[in-house]
Amino acid sequence: MKKVVLAYSGGLDTSVAVAWLKEQYGAEVITLSVDLGGGSLPADVEQRALAAGASRAYVIDGRETFLARYALRALQADALYQGAYPLATALARPLLAQLLVELAQKEGAEAVAHGCTGKGNDQVRFDVAVHALDPGLQVIAPMRVGMGLTREQKVDLAAARGIEVPVTRETPWSVDVNLWGRSCETGPLEDPWATPPDDAYAWTVKPSLAPEPVEVVIGFEGGIPVSVDGERLSGVDLVERLHTLGAAHGVGRIDHVEDRLVGIKSREIYEAPAAMILHTAHKALEGLVLSREQLRFNRVVADELARIIYDGLWFSALSRDLRTYVMSSQRVVSGDVRIRLDHGRAEVVGRRSPLSLYEKRLATYDETDAFDHAAAVGFIEIFGLPLRVEAARGGVGGHHGAAWQWTDPILASLPATVASA
Ligand code: ARG
Repeated sequence: MKKVVLAYSGGLDTSVAVAWLKEQYGAEVITLSVDLGGGSLPADVEQRALAAGASRAYVIDGRETFLARYALRALQADALYQGAYPLATALARPLLAQLLVELAQKEGAEAVAHGCTGKGNDQVRFDVAVHALDPGLQVIAPMRVGMGLTREQKVDLAAARGIEVPVTRETPWSVDVNLWGRSCETGPLEDPWATPPDDAYAWTVKPSLAPEPVEVVIGFEGGIPVSVDGERLSGVDLVERLHTLGAAHGVGRIDHVEDRLVGIKSREIYEAPAAMILHTAHKALEGLVLSREQLRFNRVVADELARIIYDGLWFSALSRDLRTYVMSSQRVVSGDVRIRLDHGRAEVVGRRSPLSLYEKRLATYDETDAFDHAAAVGFIEIFGLPLRVEAARGGVGGHHGAAWQWTDPILASLPATVASA
């Protein structure tokens, strides 16, 4: 093998992986580091990669693309995995995979590599996405195929190869960060009964220590947030503004026992102040401008898309088709939502839209009421008809002293227990 493109974070694992790949495959290693915000890359990542033995080190600012093509699309869909996790880590993987593939093709590399272990979701997301985009590329995951060294061994190996060990404080957590959120797992969190230690959280203040509540107005156009308190901002500036504000008020902490794709239940701590404020606001606006049927169907799509994103299937046909539906459904999701940040909670306190379906004349109980009360009688007559027919038959399951009893014929024909068969 001549060339490998490695997704490089600047940490110990991927630094050692540079040397390991060169030795195992005799290949030239080119690194790709993508800044996804939230402190995802150390400032000297390029120097670290070169010091670790990379022949070229690419560093890309992927923040606007990450929001525009991935995170804000998931927001439009209301996609939260298992109703809780805003998918920050999962959403970054297809973008990283796409950039790896593009660079591998440009450099004429035969393989791409990443630092995921063989136990998590991220390896699946990388491998599946890379092969969806270029089935001819090999994917190497050093941590999964033998580079499984202890921290001490990695430090020794780095020292022996003259690789400067990145000065990262050793923590008990496995952490992944980007603009959309911070994911934290392992260590003391592995006991799902144990209260997360204070230092499992790095972005948000403890809700009980938050200052006096504040209100913030978020403006949306077509389901995309475009302004904060009337000021138009780029995606990155908007998310960073809400991050700072939300974090200061302890908003966006999530403690979740989650089902990994590889069949394991895992206890995860997330911090996603901006994402959770935006999800809350977006849903509130949809409640104003979408019909009851759209809202009901959107929840199905939200769940499906969240699972697809979580499972690393972003580049599948179903993902594409559902995202196309979502985009269409968002054409009327424009307006403002006022959110109160109050000791860890993001509470909706107001919403308005020029495309609102809310009709004061119809909703009101005052004298301007335009709703036809008398017409309700006829409506109820027809709406309740099927239940009256059922009741006439003797009720569901034999209410009203009805005589009919029903025994499931299949169950009745079975022996009472397996043993007596
Ligand atoms: N459980 C989350 C997910 O699968 C977060 C993974 C965090 N990754 C990490 N390397 N710590 O999306």
